[in-house]
Amino acid sequence: MRDYYRRSYARMRGYYMPPHFMEIPYWIPITASMLPDEHFRKELMIVDDLDAAHQRITEAAEGDLFFFSALDANVKQLLHLASTGATMIVGGYVDPDVFADFPNVRFLRDITHLPVTVPRARPRTTLDYRLFDGLKCIPRFSMSSGCSFRCKFCTVPTQVVPADPGGYEAEIAALAPLDFRLAFLDDKSFGDPVADNWRDLGRVRDIFAAAHEDFEGFIVQTPPSLAARSGFLAECRDMGVRYVEFGVETAHDGLLKYLRKPFRTKHLYAASETVRELGLYVIPNFIMGIPGDDYRNTVQWVKEFVDIMPAVNVNWLAAHFGNERGDLDLPVETFGDRDQNTVTKSWLGEKEIAAGLAAVQDIYAVTEEYWRDRVTYPSEQATVR
Ligand SMILES: C[S@@+](CC[C@H](N)C(=O)[O-])C[C@H]1O[C@@H](n2cnc3c(N)ncnc32)[C@H](O)[C@@H]1O
Ligand code: SF4
Repeated sequence: MRDYYRRSYARMRGYYMPPHFMEIPYWIPITASMLPDEHFRKELMIVDDLDAAHQRITEAAEGDLFFFSALDANVKQLLHLASTGATMIVGGYVDPDVFADFPNVRFLRDITHLPVTVPRARPRTTLDYRLFDGLKCIPRFSMSSGCSFRCKFCTVPTQVVPADPGGYEAEIAALAPLDFRLAFLDDKSFGDPVADNWRDLGRVRDIFAAAHEDFEGFIVQTPPSLAARSGFLAECRDMGVRYVEFGVETAHDGLLKYLRKPFRTKHLYAASETVRELGLYVIPNFIMGIPGDDYRNTVQWVKEFVDIMPAVNVNWLAAHFGNERGDLDLPVETFGDRDQNTVTKSWLGEKEIAAGLAAVQDIYAVTEEYWRDRVTYPSEQATVR
């Protein structure tokens, strides 16, 4: 998957991938903003060698704190690091009880609780990106949080809260340490009428462009039904949108209904046609491992629209811990069942897993074949940096 992304990003104008992660983990600049310089000296520690990290944490000074984001996929490693006895502050979508044997691990159910747990921490302020100074990346920028849809597998909070437009300038100024040409709009369903500030994007673009002379625009994510509304994508393009991510999941109406996705394949086809007409690009999110899916329609849709699809994102259906909705009616028994990067699921047989993997290979091959000698936005002058 990583090799696929490296090749794809190289063809996608404005896409940068940092060496250790796809994108900056958003909780880090949030947490850094809550730890004022006068009381904390902050360091970024990238764990790519578990033994070296264990050794380093073992040697920590008494007052040192280690912050981690826990996922079902990394709990085992975190428990190993916790065995050092160092103080760890952990948050994330895992069952907090897994750390019950380690009194040195403090689990935060919500990042807003940090000032209660850590003396001299303060409530969240403007995001602090200084730990990532000079990094070539695609930063996130948020104009609203939450999503008003309720797809059954999703953990995004269902209450939509628009951001305060008075904060745009400061949030953009906070990205100054980073090197980027595109910003990823964190809004989960961009253009949702409930987040009624989405038309501020043109103004936001002007603020970005004034601060970063190389700035080229935005990547937004939204369901195809919102994207298919007449005139919407044209408006997006005029406000600086360059790429649109669709949570397609599967191009199968019955299964879209099962997942409670807020669109059907007719919206997907209509929105894809509009993307093509406007000269934009689409990056779909797919969910493999949905019970009963044969992926045929999904592969077919990729083939029909490969010319607007420089890359795809693949996930494997997971029933995340803490999912408010979660009524997928699936047996959730193993860590793999809760990990969207793991192919083994208790609801899938070996044949189904093999079919899913084969479909992913097909989809990768179709996009790589078409894009091998192509780049996005080919008519724009290449900038040498
Ligand atoms: C937060 S959603 C944003 C997409 C956008 N709101 C939409 O639905 O069009 C990002 C993507 O993560 C993937 N995803 C989220 N939860 C998942 C889960 N439990 N299992 C597998 N994939 C998941 C889906 O592919 C989803 O489209
Ligand atoms: S998958 Fe997308 S549209 Fe569905 S609830 Fe999550 S964020 Fe909203």
